[in-house]
Amino acid sequence: MKPLFLFRLILDLLTVSLLLAAFAYDWFGNAAHEIIGTLMFVLLISHNIFNRRWYGVVANGWQEPRSVFSKTITLCLLVMMVGLLATSVIISQTVFDFLALRSSFTARQIHALIAYLVLLIAALHLGLQWSMIMRVIGQALQVETNTRIPTATLRGLAFLIALYGFQSLFVIDIGPKLRLETTFSFWDFEAAAVEFILRHAAIIALCVMIVHYSLRLLSFYRRYRRAPGITE
Ligand code: HEM
Repeated sequence: MKPLFLFRLILDLLTVSLLLAAFAYDWFGNAAHEIIGTLMFVLLISHNIFNRRWYGVVANGWQEPRSVFSKTITLCLLVMMVGLLATSVIISQTVFDFLALRSSFTARQIHALIAYLVLLIAALHLGLQWSMIMRVIGQALQVETNTRIPTATLRGLAFLIALYGFQSLFVIDIGPKLRLETTFSFWDFEAAAVEFILRHAAIIALCVMIVHYSLRLLSFYRRYRRAPGITE
């Protein structure tokens, strides 16, 4: 693996970790939350520079289902990230406070709503790269990925994590947050800080798996369409 590629993967891992940490607002407090979030946006700029080729090809391939699927997810993520950045600047009480923009209850609610949408869509976006990430990790650890037993074990484990992720959607109370409802459910970080991170990580894993297996289905569909003797 090329060192630059490894460096990019490490930066991406750090970006996801900062995204997760930003959700623990009540644990870290406002100033740390804003610094963590701002750092994440700085790393996102580097992610965009490394992947700038995408902007040159985004208009192509819209007749191919797989391409429509991937590009729609990535475009949604781009729009949501811009929204998260804009609301962050507006409601800031520390990092961008010098801009003296007028915050409001609605802006803060929209910030939290977009943040949860970003969590879900960023996880879907990660799922688009999952095969490549698994291949790279397999190569780095020199694991033979095609052997039946590890594959079955890993799939079983992935399924259990996805189940935990699905249940976590309800424990984290994501539904009301996405409907902009005011909730009075506060996470007890004194008692369950690790569980908070694990549940958010499992939600990410659930979305990764949904996209990973959807892409595999689309590949089967493409092969089926291209199989000799089948007419459209
Ligand atoms: C990784 C990016 C970010 C995510 C995922 C995120 C997520 C969130 C969430 C979920 C909340 C609601 C917390 C709660 O009520 O329990 C929140 C609140 C807040 N965020 Fe962010 N945030 C991010 C970046 C930022 C940045 C960069 C700033 C400012 C520089 C910021 C400023 C704030 C402020 C001031 C609040 C408190 C709003 C209130 O008083 O209700 N956030 N954020």
